[in-house]
Amino acid sequence: MKVAIIGAGHIGTTLAYTLMIKGFVSEIAIVNRTREKAYGEALDMTHALASASHSVKIYSGDYRACEGAEIIVVTAGAATAKGQSRLEIVAANAAIFREMIPEVMKYNSEAVVVLVTNPVDVNTWLTLRYSGLPWQRVIGSGTVLDCQRFQSFLSRHFNVHPGNVQGLIIGEHGESMIPLWSRASICGIPLTEFPGYDREEMEDIFDMTRRGAAMVRVTKDSTEYATAMSVSRTVEAILLDKKEVLTVSTLVSDYYGVGNVCLSMPSIVGKRGIERVLTPQLADDERDKLLRSAAVLKGVLASVTDEPTA
Ligand code: 2OP
Repeated sequence: MKVAIIGAGHIGTTLAYTLMIKGFVSEIAIVNRTREKAYGEALDMTHALASASHSVKIYSGDYRACEGAEIIVVTAGAATAKGQSRLEIVAANAAIFREMIPEVMKYNSEAVVVLVTNPVDVNTWLTLRYSGLPWQRVIGSGTVLDCQRFQSFLSRHFNVHPGNVQGLIIGEHGESMIPLWSRASICGIPLTEFPGYDREEMEDIFDMTRRGAAMVRVTKDSTEYATAMSVSRTVEAILLDKKEVLTVSTLVSDYYGVGNVCLSMPSIVGKRGIERVLTPQLADDERDKLLRSAAVLKGVLASVTDEPTA
């Protein structure tokens, strides 16, 4: 099975390397505006294949290299400067996407497209418009990464395996993300009933989650390992038809009155992309935060498109 990765920056190349090591992908194409960068990254990875547990064909190319891929992952675009919010680069990336997405569709309009470039929720909505693909096949990496951070921090606090922690974060992959405390649990035991629960410490844990990228970028240029791992999880769910529930960014049609916007919702992910969007009942404060998150994203969308976003 083939994955094409557009963008050979920190995240795109770390994702390619992660997929190579995980072994469920048989072919990886790396596409980059600067062809030499993609060539060097692909060449370096092919030098590792003799020690890899699976045989993977890795190469670089232009958009034509997206042909035949089951999944196209888009990591290309302008990156935020240190201290800049993900939403501040929306205009630059909207212009890049307006040109790039139709070009890519010329070579492959059958794939599931997974957006990673920030602001990922806005870029997911724009890709829906620019590609003409069905909404089920246009997925944003969304808050899968934030849930991963949240679960890691919670598991460390409660001293349990991360896999036992249910910690859903929905909404914007950004400042207005929403922790669903009403549904947080460890092995089905509500967090509030678990030994070691402390409300203030929970708020600190969520704050660390929301500031996760900024904390990493104090000492390095870009996050990459956690992002790549969370995206590889979504890629695996699609390629292996896992029907895994992941909080990917998807087109929301009518959830507490929210519609025509892309944000993260718990969704069943399988071979054709989003198989079903789950709409959990929210506590009042969670609903209010959802409405606020949707309003933030719609406001940003309206600044980069003439299309109706109401
Ligand atoms: C992050 O949160 C870059 O948005 C990405 O690490």
